[in-house]
Amino acid sequence: MRPGGALLALLASLLLLLRLIWSSTDEPARPRLLVEVSREATHGTPAALRTLRSPATSLPRATNSTYLDENSLRLTERCSNLQDGFRTLSNKTKKYSEDDYLQIITNIQSCPWKRQVEEYENFRAELTSCCDAVQNLIVSQNNTPVGTNMSYEVENKNEILIRENIFSMFPVSQPFVGYPYNQCAVVGNGGILNMSLCGAEIDKSDFVFRCNLPPTTGNVSKDVGSKTNLVTVNPSIIRLKYGNLKEKKAIFLEDVATYGDAFLLLPAFSFRANTGASFKVYNTLKESKARQKVIYFHPKYLRNLALFWRTKGVTEYRLSSGLMITSVAIALCENVKLYGFWPFSKTVQDTPLSHHYYDNNLPKRGFHEMPKEYSQILQLYVKGILKLQFNKCERA
Ligand SMILES: *[C@@H]1O[C@H](CO)[C@@H](O)[C@H](O)[C@H]1NC(C)=O
Ligand SMILES: *[C@@H]1O[C@H](CO)[C@@H](O)[C@H](O)[C@H]1NC(C)=O
Ligand SMILES: *[C@@H]1O[C@H](CO)[C@@H](O)[C@H](O)[C@H]1NC(C)=O
Ligand SMILES: *[C@@H]1O[C@H](CO)[C@@H](O)[C@H](O)[C@H]1NC(C)=O
Ligand SMILES: *[C@@H]1O[C@H](CO)[C@@H](O)[C@H](O)[C@H]1NC(C)=O
Repeated sequence: MRPGGALLALLASLLLLLRLIWSSTDEPARPRLLVEVSREATHGTPAALRTLRSPATSLPRATNSTYLDENSLRLTERCSNLQDGFRTLSNKTKKYSEDDYLQIITNIQSCPWKRQVEEYENFRAELTSCCDAVQNLIVSQNNTPVGTNMSYEVENKNEILIRENIFSMFPVSQPFVGYPYNQCAVVGNGGILNMSLCGAEIDKSDFVFRCNLPPTTGNVSKDVGSKTNLVTVNPSIIRLKYGNLKEKKAIFLEDVATYGDAFLLLPAFSFRANTGASFKVYNTLKESKARQKVIYFHPKYLRNLALFWRTKGVTEYRLSSGLMITSVAIALCENVKLYGFWPFSKTVQDTPLSHHYYDNNLPKRGFHEMPKEYSQILQLYVKGILKLQFNKCERA
């Protein structure tokens, strides 16, 4: 149990004790005890229980406190145990149905979320020591001199020799001049964003991350916002949607123009097949003097990040760009909030959802197991490391 949870549980039991003593000694003639929950109580010292008044002195009447309310007491206890309960459950992913998970998420949602600075700092330190996004996220002239044989992230038996022509595409050093950012939004593409009215809130963030060139203009912008500081590009979208930037080059340029001067982040050195497509994106944007800046994931960063998540139980073949970018955001930002991360086919109110907010494809039928990645993200939420938007935003 995290310290915060232990404190809450202790506080709750002290208040319960207070309540019991109070109600059993409510007759004026009998001796009374007043138990005070002092500051020390939150440090768990037994000295926290102190007799403050002699039996003879009269007592002030109890004022109503929300903590004394039984329902909120139960809520506090339940919420403080949530993390442990959740950890146990998340080990049994295969035994639970989608409805079971939605119930767990309903419970999680009913508990107040509070940022836990210590948890955040610890997790960030772990991420820094494995991967150090600030220095190593992207390939730069600083970390990759001419003549480097760079091995691919996945096809790691293969290397690419960094000659001058490739080197010249790299920025001199890490380009995140505003680092550390205060409030960051990581916007996933889940159908849960449809009709969410989260756009205004997202656009207020200091830095907005998005995945795989999603639409942000027209009728979706009220739900997903339009501000974009970094967007990942899966090279397969270049082939499938933009015909390898031949006849559909103009459409591509029009689409990326909606991202202003955002960074386009590509996994150029993950698979050999990605390299040509990524360089093509770079050259296409350069020739048309576009404002967007192309940067490439460092293959070593992604390898280390995958190893890091493997130690947490994420054993999938390759991390999703959602988890990659969430990890980057935690490294670059003080406060991280995720939107549109929802691997379920329906809402907690049982409304069916499309796979993405911009298409009408239903998710694959049949729910086998909650993605391990999502379980990790929920744990980060429960620990107070990042915030998750589960449904509609409060204000438009
Ligand atoms: C305490 O709450 C009860 C029930 O909610 C109410 O009847 C009572 O008036 C409250 N007392 C005070 C002092 O607010
Ligand atoms: C869950 O699984 C992880 C690794 O698979 C293990 O380290 C941990 O102790 C398990 N937790 C519980 C509560 O069973
Ligand atoms: C890079 O690899 C090539 C071919 O495998 C080799 O000849 C060359 O010496 C290597 N260069 C460096 C700097 O390791
Ligand atoms: C948004 O606009 C697109 C194209 O203009 C249309 O296909 C889609 O149905 C619209 N979605 C909503 C929620 O109105
Ligand atoms: C968004 O929700 C509306 C209303 O529920 C629905 O008509 C529309 O098809 C949805 N759009 C997508 C892309 O799922």
